[in-house]
Amino acid sequence: MTDGAVGVFDSGIGGLTVIKELTRLMPHENFIYFGDTARAPYGSRPPAQIIDFMHQTLRYFAARQVKMAVFACNTMTALGLEAARRYYPFPLVGMNTGARVALKTTRNKNIGVIATQATVASGKHGKTLKVLDPGVAVYPQACPKFVPLIEQGIWEGGPIREAACEYLVPLKEAEIDTLILGCTHYPLISPLISRILGPSVALVDPASETAQDARRVLAGLGSLAGVGSGSVRLCFSARLGKAELFANNILGVLPAEFEYVDMQDYALP
Ligand code: DGL
Repeated sequence: MTDGAVGVFDSGIGGLTVIKELTRLMPHENFIYFGDTARAPYGSRPPAQIIDFMHQTLRYFAARQVKMAVFACNTMTALGLEAARRYYPFPLVGMNTGARVALKTTRNKNIGVIATQATVASGKHGKTLKVLDPGVAVYPQACPKFVPLIEQGIWEGGPIREAACEYLVPLKEAEIDTLILGCTHYPLISPLISRILGPSVALVDPASETAQDARRVLAGLGSLAGVGSGSVRLCFSARLGKAELFANNILGVLPAEFEYVDMQDYALP
């Protein structure tokens, strides 16, 4: 069975960093990406609202008869994935925490995690790291100023550099040697992050592990597309012009079609 597209979603443009890995690993699949750009950021919202928005997107994917949905968002993964599993007739794959890669990478066992407020409050990354290695020291840092700036296209310069120094200098002082990018928007500013932390700190972007997890699930179900040119449909809830610009920037030459989606159609009355 290879019918149906793979749905991939995030609060905004951050999940494009994940779809990049998914299309690289599974070039024959048809993907539908949804970024809720009209309502990003999610990470500073109350958990119940984040979960409500997650269900709206999953209902949209159900209406489009996807064969699987990939959470390209750490916040919704941490808050809603497990509870969502019983509601939908297709498999759900969450963001990988990057914990295994981080533990393989670190030499001094001081690992930083940067993420949204909601993800940090969930403690998911720290718990996973500690289960795998109780001897590790975890330094979580919420970065609420990052996503609003990144969504505006501010990936370098004054305001984002200032915010990055505020969040990252304490991690540098704690002598982390490995940093998990626990929000899918953050790889877009990894050059800035690396410049502040210096070459001795390795950055872990869990996007490729997430893509491998998704591939494993599809292969396990016998649903992996093995032939065909594949396709990418990029759907957003806000002005498409800006999203198109970002998508071209992030995904490069990948041919994609763009579509506006009104999420009110998927809100419960
Ligand atoms: N990109 C998302 C994540 O990975 C959410 C960012 C936000 O909307 O706050 O957590």
